[in-house]
Amino acid sequence: MQGLEKSFKHLKVLRGVDLEVARGSIFALLGSNGAGKTTVVKILSTLLKADTGAARVNGFDVATQAADVRESISLTGQFAAVDEILSGRENLVLVARLRHLKDPGAIADDLLRRFSLTEAGTRRVATYSGGMRRRLDIAMSLIGNPPVIFLDEPTTGLDPEARIEVWQAVKELAEGGTTVLLTTQYLDEAEQLADRIAILHEGRIIVNGTLNELKQLLPAPEVEYVEKQPTLEDVFLTLVGARTDKEQR
Ligand SMILES: Nc1ncnc2c1ncn2[C@@H]1O[C@H](COP(=O)(O)OP(=O)(O)OP(=O)(O)O)[C@@H](O)[C@H]1O
Ligand SMILES: [Mg+2]
Repeated sequence: MQGLEKSFKHLKVLRGVDLEVARGSIFALLGSNGAGKTTVVKILSTLLKADTGAARVNGFDVATQAADVRESISLTGQFAAVDEILSGRENLVLVARLRHLKDPGAIADDLLRRFSLTEAGTRRVATYSGGMRRRLDIAMSLIGNPPVIFLDEPTTGLDPEARIEVWQAVKELAEGGTTVLLTTQYLDEAEQLADRIAILHEGRIIVNGTLNELKQLLPAPEVEYVEKQPTLEDVFLTLVGARTDKEQR
């Protein structure tokens, strides 16, 4: 995307945003609340029109080839969009039917397995934890194998274990060749997942690079002799233990 600008009335949200995301990579767009991350994702997924600038997704122009763009992408929004009354499996089958795919049941079972939801699959989504919902939401967005996926704050509000489960799922997607653009406010999420990271601030991309490139922007740390303290996250994860499928039983 090049020179994207977007204002809402007098509020200039994007003031010229340039970004390239390599195919099959994970790109993290960081920024504070209100920085314009969701606005970028909406423009790329054709839900909003930019005032000026151009963007291509999977080779298609978002302004003039919107239908092709929509066929190439899936969007998982900031808030999970699953139907509570249905079971996880029914949600997946429904979406596969809506997309006129062959054998919706097999597609659903495959996705349930990939997202460790097989046992929970027949239960109503209303009984799922936040992490399970989010995984189901991402699984739903993969139906039809879109080459590009947008994840808007995929782990906001999740506990540390659920976040790690979502990260695992996202990594597997990229390993399978899917291009992932995710937004996040969590620096560790970008560190864990992203091949490249950009920071959106005051309407512009102020840095863009790999984690190592970003770290080199700061002066080399002076050596300090302090005992290394575990982080709270280390403590939490050690005490609670790695979760596999047990939350679902
Ligand atoms: N439809 C709209 N009408 C008016 N203002 C809007 C609209 N959508 C977004 N904004 C404003 O644009 C700015 C950027 O919003 P955006 O949702 O893109 O931020 P964000 O980086 O996704 O923030 P968050 O981290 O809170 O999700 C905010 O100030 C928001 O109030
Ligand atoms: Mg947002």
